[in-house]
Amino acid sequence: MALYLVTGVAGFIGSNIARELVRRGERVRGIDNFSTGKRHNLEDLSAHIDFVEADIRNIAAMREVCASADYVIHQAAIPSVPRSVEDPITSNEANVDGTLNVLVAARDAKVKRVVYASSSSLYGDIPTLPKREDMAPSPISPYAVSKLTGEYYMRSFYRVYGLETVSLRYFNVFGPHQDPTSMYSGVLAIFTSRMLRGEPVTINGDGEQSRDFTYIDNVVSANLLACLAPAEQVAGRYFNTATGHRITLNQTFEILKKLTNYNGNPKYGPDRSGDVKHSLADISLAQKHLGYKPLVMFEEGLRRTVEWYKATQVAHASA
Ligand code: UD1
Repeated sequence: MALYLVTGVAGFIGSNIARELVRRGERVRGIDNFSTGKRHNLEDLSAHIDFVEADIRNIAAMREVCASADYVIHQAAIPSVPRSVEDPITSNEANVDGTLNVLVAARDAKVKRVVYASSSSLYGDIPTLPKREDMAPSPISPYAVSKLTGEYYMRSFYRVYGLETVSLRYFNVFGPHQDPTSMYSGVLAIFTSRMLRGEPVTINGDGEQSRDFTYIDNVVSANLLACLAPAEQVAGRYFNTATGHRITLNQTFEILKKLTNYNGNPKYGPDRSGDVKHSLADISLAQKHLGYKPLVMFEEGLRRTVEWYKATQVAHASA
């Protein structure tokens, strides 16, 4: 049985990946420093995984957790475009320095492959849709720069040291376990949780910005495919991880309104600094080389997400 190391295992995406690996009967080790990850995301997992509380910026800790790992699924990061605009140094330390540590430790431990959480944000203000991997990156925010830098390190470690790396460019991931409580949370986590409680929501700008919102199960499946796909097709490469469809924030609000039985209307605020206007992926490269296909499309994903927040908000309210 292979040993998978998941960095950021207490986070939204990391915990979902670990849960699926455990479900498949794989061995899982996880690392998190709880800077943005949550202990409650590990509640159902801790009995089944080997968990180490440590920071990816700590190279000694990284060496320990990489020892004997077969695959590293690197999800630890400080997400959020606006957070990086507020504090670019902290985003850079986690996303760039931390990623370099992961790579050095993985290289020295001779792991088979590192799979990296890259981001659609690196396409930035390229006007052409859909975004294809052969377009030159044009990052706007410090977050996008940090994720692109991590991706360059992934490619460098493959070319220079022969460490197999695969970067997955996530497009606006959403679903169960996404934290709704921070001002930096993803928009669907914020909207779903607030609308279920009947609280007001604010749309930044005119609401006509669009996203290729990607349900978490699709991202989990892409990560597991990326670990096992033939090296000659994937090593040192990067792939869009998305659905290939986009929807505006205004349309999304209307769907959520029905799903949550919400009565209000959104408030409209100013555009958000560093924001990308439209985002849509071409997923054909991932389909071809990873064997990836979206498993759950947007509306079904949103329905499942609403159900999950409903259940957890009730559970927390009565706890
Ligand atoms: C960006 C990346 C995404 C990455 C994420 C990490 C792009 C296209 N996407 O997401 O791949 O995973 O960073 O954090 O760059 N909004 C509101 N009201 C709110 C909150 C947000 O209107 O209360 C708007 C934002 O201004 C934005 C949209 O919703 O236009 C999506 O925002 P958010 O969920 O923060 O994600 P991105 O910044 O698009």
